[in-house]
Amino acid sequence: MSDWQKSDWREKPRVQMPDYPDKAALAEVEAQLAKYPPLVFAGEVRRLRAALADAAEGRAFLLQGGDCAESFAEFSADNIRDTFKVMLQMAMVLTYGAKVPVIKVGRMAGQFAKPRSAPTEVRGDRELPSYRGDIINELAFTPEARIPDPKKMLQAYTQAAATLNLLRAFSTGGYADVHQVHSWTLGFTRGENAVRYRDMAARISDTLDFMRAAGVDSSRAHTLQTVDFYTSHEALLLEYEEALCRIDSTTGLPVAGSGHMLWIGDRTRQPDGAHVEFCRGVQNPIGLKCGPSMTSDDLKRLMARLNPDNEPGRLTLITRFGAGSVGEHLPRLIRTVREEGANVVWSCDPMHGNTIKSSSGFKTRPFESVLREVREFFAIHKAEGTVPGGVHFEMTGRDVTECTGGVRAVTDEDLSSRYHTACDPRLNASQSLELAFLVAEELSDLRAARAAEAV
Ligand code: PEP
Ligand code: CO
Repeated sequence: MSDWQKSDWREKPRVQMPDYPDKAALAEVEAQLAKYPPLVFAGEVRRLRAALADAAEGRAFLLQGGDCAESFAEFSADNIRDTFKVMLQMAMVLTYGAKVPVIKVGRMAGQFAKPRSAPTEVRGDRELPSYRGDIINELAFTPEARIPDPKKMLQAYTQAAATLNLLRAFSTGGYADVHQVHSWTLGFTRGENAVRYRDMAARISDTLDFMRAAGVDSSRAHTLQTVDFYTSHEALLLEYEEALCRIDSTTGLPVAGSGHMLWIGDRTRQPDGAHVEFCRGVQNPIGLKCGPSMTSDDLKRLMARLNPDNEPGRLTLITRFGAGSVGEHLPRLIRTVREEGANVVWSCDPMHGNTIKSSSGFKTRPFESVLREVREFFAIHKAEGTVPGGVHFEMTGRDVTECTGGVRAVTDEDLSSRYHTACDPRLNASQSLELAFLVAEELSDLRAARAAEAV
C-alpha cells in the first residue's frame, strides 16, 4: 500500500490510548523497540491468512482464545503450558467431533493493553486513572501505579518473546504430538467433561493403534507430531505496534511484527480513527469486533478500508452481541456483508456481550449465557445459509472461579475463592472443554443438515 506509512495513525483521532507524561522516555523506548527483532515472520502471517480463507468457506474452523489480559505477575511456564494444553484439547474435540481442521490462535504473547469503559476509577472518595493493562500502567490503586510508563512496553516485548518461544517449543518439540492426546488430560481428572474427553482420547489412541497395526506408521507423520499455533492480540497501543512494524522482504509490504493476527476492539473501531488507520496498512489477518452498536454503514466503510481488495482470510468479523441479542443484530450484518459481496470469516465472541455484576459484587459471566450466544450464532448462520467460521473466547488453563455455572457449577458465592483475573472473567479448563463439545455438536449438526439439503 504505497500511500500508507506506519506512523499515519498519529494524525488521526485516537481513543483508549494513554497520554505518556514523559515524552523523552517514550521516544527512547520506541527507538529501542524499533531495533528489536520482530516476534513473528511474514511467511507465518501469510500462512494464517490462507488458513482463514479456508475458514471463510467452511473448510476449517478458527479457535481463538486465551487471557483477557496477560499479566506480568502471572507470567510462568506452567500458565503458558496450561492454556496451550486446553487449546489443544479443545482443538482435538473439534477435529474429532466435527471432522474439521482447526486453526489455533492464542490471545497470547502480546495481549497486554486493555480498553476501559471509564477513563478513571473511583474507590470511596478517591478517583484515579483507570488501569489499562500491564503494558501501560499498574493495577495497584495508587497515583504512582496508574501513571503510564513507556518502559513497560520493553517488559511486554520480552514476555511476549519468551511466551512465543515456549509456544513454538511445545508446538513442534513433541508436546503437541497427537500420540500424547491422553497426557493432555493430566490435572483435569474430575468432572463430566474430563470423562468425555478421556473417552474421546481413548478412541483416538485406538485409531492410531489400528493404523500402526495396518502398517501406517503415524508416529513419524509430521502433521500428527506438530501443530501450527498462532498468536493474536488487540492492536490497541499503537506506539508499540508501530515500533514493531516491519517490511516483509518477500513482498515489500508492511507486516505487524508483534503477533500473527491483530484485532480492532469494539471501542476503537471508528472508521476514520487511529486504530483502523494502522491496521489497514499491515498484511496480517485483522479481526474486527462487532458489538450491538455496529451500524451497517460503519461496517461497509470498515470493510472498504480494511479489505479494499476483498481478499479472503484478511478480515474476520468477531460478533459479540450478548445472549438473546444475536437475532436482532447478526442478520442485519450478514445482509450488509452479502450486499457488499464481501469475503469474511464470521467468528463468535460469546464473552464480551455477557458480562454482568454478580450478587456477590464480582464481575462475572454466566456460562449459560456464553453457551446460549454460541447456539444463537449457529442457528442464525444455519438459517441464513452462511458459514459460522470460528469462536473467540477468554479462558485460562487454571482452575479459576470467574464465570458462574458449567457442569462443575461455579456459584456466585464461589467467585471469591479463585478469582484471579486482572480484567474480564475467564472460562476455566472445564468450562472451555464444555464449550468445545457444544461447538463440535453444532458444527456436526450443521454439516448433517446441509448434506441432507443437498440430496
Ligand atoms: C476483549 O476482547 O478483551 C475486548 C475488550 O473486547 P471488545 O472490544 O469486544 O469489548
Ligand atoms: Co476481555
